[in-house]
Amino acid sequence: MKIFIDSADIDEIAKAYEWGIVDGVTTNPSLLKTAVDRRKAKGEKLDLEAYIVKLLETSKPNPVSLEVTKRTAREMIEQGRNLYKRFNSVANNVNIKIPVNPAVKSDEQCHFDGINAVKVLQSEGIPVNCTLVFTPEQALLAAKAGAAYISPFAGRIDDLIRSRANIKFSKSDYFPDGGMEHNGVFLNDNGIVSGIDLVSQCVEVLGYYGYSSQIIAASLRNPRQVREAALAGAHIATVPFGVIADMLKHEKTFEGMQKFTEDIVPEYEKLIG
Ligand code: E4P
Repeated sequence: MKIFIDSADIDEIAKAYEWGIVDGVTTNPSLLKTAVDRRKAKGEKLDLEAYIVKLLETSKPNPVSLEVTKRTAREMIEQGRNLYKRFNSVANNVNIKIPVNPAVKSDEQCHFDGINAVKVLQSEGIPVNCTLVFTPEQALLAAKAGAAYISPFAGRIDDLIRSRANIKFSKSDYFPDGGMEHNGVFLNDNGIVSGIDLVSQCVEVLGYYGYSSQIIAASLRNPRQVREAALAGAHIATVPFGVIADMLKHEKTFEGMQKFTEDIVPEYEKLIG
């Protein structure tokens, strides 16, 4: 499984690349805002265009998702083309993030504008990461439209299931991949019992029909979810910096290192330098 870093912070991205285990980057408007706000808080004057160029160079040759901000097909296609035209020449690694459905409420008329934008951009050779996917049927339509990447949001499904059941939680809390019972009810969102179940169902559905879209398990909140995304067969997991940093931690590893360090034979160390 590939690991992308879910961040727009160049320092985090560069550090994760230094660790040698990152295969790409996903950004979204909220992640970009966090990164920009951090720099402004430090008193830096930010040239956003130069910042994005540096981000793309930092990730070269691995892919970077840049998201559109508009909500009609026409405008998203235009923004996708603009982003690709302006930035893909930097490192040949840009893909455009398009929401699977840009509507903000059910009675809007733009439900298929995202899918339409995916289809048009992909047909022009511009790779798309179809985002905000919360059902396997949304993933299926994104695959039919030709999306290079499809991003089911695991953590946000867990948030939704827990919130509806009035369960108190913090975002990084583990949610069982097989779902959970609460007050005698087996919790689910229209048959999806957890965020990882969503990822797993998306992988399964697309797998039956040989679509070339790659599933990016997104909105991952803790290392165990990354493990479960891998077990679910996700092609890619996009992981926040802090979660990547936590993936290597285990008390028995620390304890083992402590003991090995105490037991070093000086002659052995002299031998190996
Ligand atoms: C990545 O593509 C998504 O935008 C991101 O993983 C969302 O994560 P969040 O639900 O923690 O905001």
